[in-house]
Amino acid sequence: MRVCVVGSGGREHALAEALARTAEVVVCPGNPGMAALGVRCVSGRPEDLDADLFVIGPEAPLVEGLADRLRAAGRLVFGPGAEGARLEGSKAWMKGLLEGAGVPTARYGVFTEEGGALEFLRSLPGPWVVKTDGLAAGKGVLVTAERALAEADVREKLSGAAFGDAGRTVVVEEFLEGTELSLMALCDGRRAWPLAPAQDFKRVGDGDSGPNTGGMGAFSPVPAAADVVSQVMAEAVQPTLDALSARGVDYRGVLYAGLMLTAEGPRVLEFNVRFGDPETQVVLPRWEGDVAAVLAAAASGRLSDVAPPAFSSQAAVCVVAAAPGYPSRAHTGDVIEGLGALAGMDRVHVYCAGVGAGPSEGSLVTAGGRVLGVTATAADLEEARRRVYGALPAVSWPGLHYRHDIAAAGSV
Ligand code: AMP
Ligand code: GLY
Repeated sequence: MRVCVVGSGGREHALAEALARTAEVVVCPGNPGMAALGVRCVSGRPEDLDADLFVIGPEAPLVEGLADRLRAAGRLVFGPGAEGARLEGSKAWMKGLLEGAGVPTARYGVFTEEGGALEFLRSLPGPWVVKTDGLAAGKGVLVTAERALAEADVREKLSGAAFGDAGRTVVVEEFLEGTELSLMALCDGRRAWPLAPAQDFKRVGDGDSGPNTGGMGAFSPVPAAADVVSQVMAEAVQPTLDALSARGVDYRGVLYAGLMLTAEGPRVLEFNVRFGDPETQVVLPRWEGDVAAVLAAAASGRLSDVAPPAFSSQAAVCVVAAAPGYPSRAHTGDVIEGLGALAGMDRVHVYCAGVGAGPSEGSLVTAGGRVLGVTATAADLEEARRRVYGALPAVSWPGLHYRHDIAAAGSV
């Protein structure tokens, strides 16, 4: 089978690695870091490529209808069409669908006018949660214990100053307290199978300090999640898939539930319509079996034809190494040293995200905020964590930073 993975980040690198166990893989467009580590990257439009299966990584092409266009051209695609991708493309639409389907989620209001938003905000006890309706690369959510900050954020978002049109509608939510969990499920339109749960770390700094990012690290398995997977599948994933189906949406791809495990039970914070980044970098290395065959079965509406995904007992910990300035404006163009040595280490996986070609032959430079995801696997989380932090010093660029507490005791 020839598989084309669409995208250029660490998630796509991890997908390519897992798919390559049983399939011939190209990534479109990929990046020069992946190419240096042996992944075949091709430029151009996915529509112009020939492959037996297309796996679409990022949300943006899904939201703007790439899966629909490929399907219209007779291609087999793992990834929802534009209608299903609204689950991630519009938080207001997603909350409405969840409410209609009876899926447990935070109490909320949707606003395009300041007056109503502030009134609702003031009716909540706090801390306060203000979200852009539209896509904002994981940065459109403010959680704050200061009401004045929340109020200012509402104004900035609604004015278009902070996030353009994505923020002209805001969702204000009640604050939920608990442990966060990412659960990705593979869907074939009617049926869904869970992958192993993961936990990611959204804040940039140690101890969950600083602003939200796209994700600074992840680990899997998650001891705290052992008992909730079947509950989340029954109370959140399947009802959402059923509600989509009732609206005529044949949802084939990943339904990724961002959850808060509260004292009252699991609550859905958000749905994403794709594999998580960096969750994929810890879940896929643990997935045992023919990943390409399973994704092709989901894309064909026939998950019942293949065995459910099974996961190794090994633990995986991923730490994201970022460029200076991230998540605000990242400084890029710095030469990356030591990538080959890092990638050559035993049971260490290096996933290239913001990596570009340098000025001299074969050199690589930073080209984005999140530059690398480095994953180590081992018999347990503690050992995997020790190994990943032992490996990271092999790579360097000026101002490289990463969190030091991914999967640390207290966070797992
Ligand atoms: P989202 O993109 O909606 O998942 O939000 C990003 C992050 O903000 C989540 O991972 C949580 O850490 C936090 N968050 C979002 N919604 C809430 C909420 N209702 N209560 C508490 N924290 C939240
Ligand atoms: N790691 C969070 C996300 O993929 O949205």
